[in-house]
Amino acid sequence: MAPTDPKNATAIILAAGEGTRMRSALPKVLHQVGHLPLIAHVMKAARAAGLDRPRLVLGHGGEAVEAELTKRGLAFDVAVQAERLGTGHAAMMVRDAGLIPDGPVMVLLGDAPLIRPELITGALSKLNDGADLVVVGFEAADPTGYGRLIVDGGRLQAIVEEKEADPAQKAVTLCNSGLMAFGPGVLEPLLAGLTNDNAKGEYYLTDAIALAGKKGFTVTYTLADEADLAGVNTKVELAEVEAEFQARRRTELMLAGVTMQAPDTVMLAHDTEIAPDVTLEPNIVFGPGVSIATGATIRAFSHLEGATVGEGAQIGPFARLRPGADIGTDAKVGNFSEVKKATLGEGAKVNHLSYVGDATVGAGANIGAGTITCNYDGTNKHETVIGEGAFIGSNSSLVAPVTIEDSAYVGSGSVITKDVPAGDLAIGRGRQVNLKGRAPKKG
Ligand code: UD1
Ligand code: CA
Repeated sequence: MAPTDPKNATAIILAAGEGTRMRSALPKVLHQVGHLPLIAHVMKAARAAGLDRPRLVLGHGGEAVEAELTKRGLAFDVAVQAERLGTGHAAMMVRDAGLIPDGPVMVLLGDAPLIRPELITGALSKLNDGADLVVVGFEAADPTGYGRLIVDGGRLQAIVEEKEADPAQKAVTLCNSGLMAFGPGVLEPLLAGLTNDNAKGEYYLTDAIALAGKKGFTVTYTLADEADLAGVNTKVELAEVEAEFQARRRTELMLAGVTMQAPDTVMLAHDTEIAPDVTLEPNIVFGPGVSIATGATIRAFSHLEGATVGEGAQIGPFARLRPGADIGTDAKVGNFSEVKKATLGEGAKVNHLSYVGDATVGAGANIGAGTITCNYDGTNKHETVIGEGAFIGSNSSLVAPVTIEDSAYVGSGSVITKDVPAGDLAIGRGRQVNLKGRAPKKG
């Protein structure tokens, strides 16, 4: 057989599961781990292994899955399986849609997001060694429910499903992960031979193994770690897989030089980018789309999503960075401050209790405690521009659209509705009157 470059292989991802045990209106494979749908994790691993444009078998809720993955810029083809008649039937739907490629095929499961790319390349490399069909097996802590690998004299003879297994077969702990690699031209003739005369009345893809032996194909298996194969069927398993995903991402980041004072309390997203020599204090939540430059410190109890944090910046404690927050080098966002769709220049400070939204804040500007950019008039959002070195006194309201030019100074408690020219002092508040001896007597 011609050598198999994984780059010529195509993934078939089985994802027509009903997911009823999730007790959710959302299709199972769209539930997220690290803010990425389960099936997108599988697609990402397949792409990292060099496989292109996967074939997805979708059933109930398939349109929602297609829409979500397209929105995320992923490329794929879809075979619809209207009735869930088994894993073999799912592969038949790919065939009927004319989507079985000429090259090798890797069958993956859409609800098992922890799969590593090496596991895929490892199985495909066995095709290079002369195998026609490779099953990815694992030693199960508890084999109940899995198909068992029946190995005789070192050769994989068959996979027997739990429902068909006799007591001796049930005692086997070497199980089928559901992942299989097929050499070029191997899958189609095997599909043609599958029947549904079994306990479940389903077309089992696993019957292809015994069939392949009969047809003279070379069948073998590889071993993977059970932890990499975990599938999600309930919200409990979703949480377990999330925990494992988080643990892996934290370890990767710490090994890459990120300091985490209490790693178990930091929640990351699939795309969180954190440079070496960033310090994360305890209890930080990263939504998607965050990137942190070296030397920055994210202090305790901060929540960040869609934000960029520059070198040496300090965020928190108790800060919230929302999408479009772009915090400059050495800038500071302190406790109970919220920044949305706003750029803070180098060394700018928003230290206490502020809302800065739809704004540009110049380098070295100081935003006093309790300052609010009033960006929304009930219909439209408006911009606030604050110049370099400007000083906004505490408890000011900046009613957008408004510009405070470089080095301008706003007196505390001001309501600013007009632009403030560079270098000017603006005071927009009622004047204080002191009434001699008129303090009310106590008691
Ligand atoms: C399957 C395997 C079993 C293996 C186990 C690993 C078969 C017959 N059995 O069992 O050997 O140990 O996975 O988890 O293959 N799917 C479809 N359409 C269908 C049926 C399933 O797309 O008609 C998809 C599901 O969405 C899922 C995958 O195939 O991603 C496995 O289906 P599932 O019902 O979980 O198979 P098991 O009975 O657990
Ligand atoms: Ca299953």
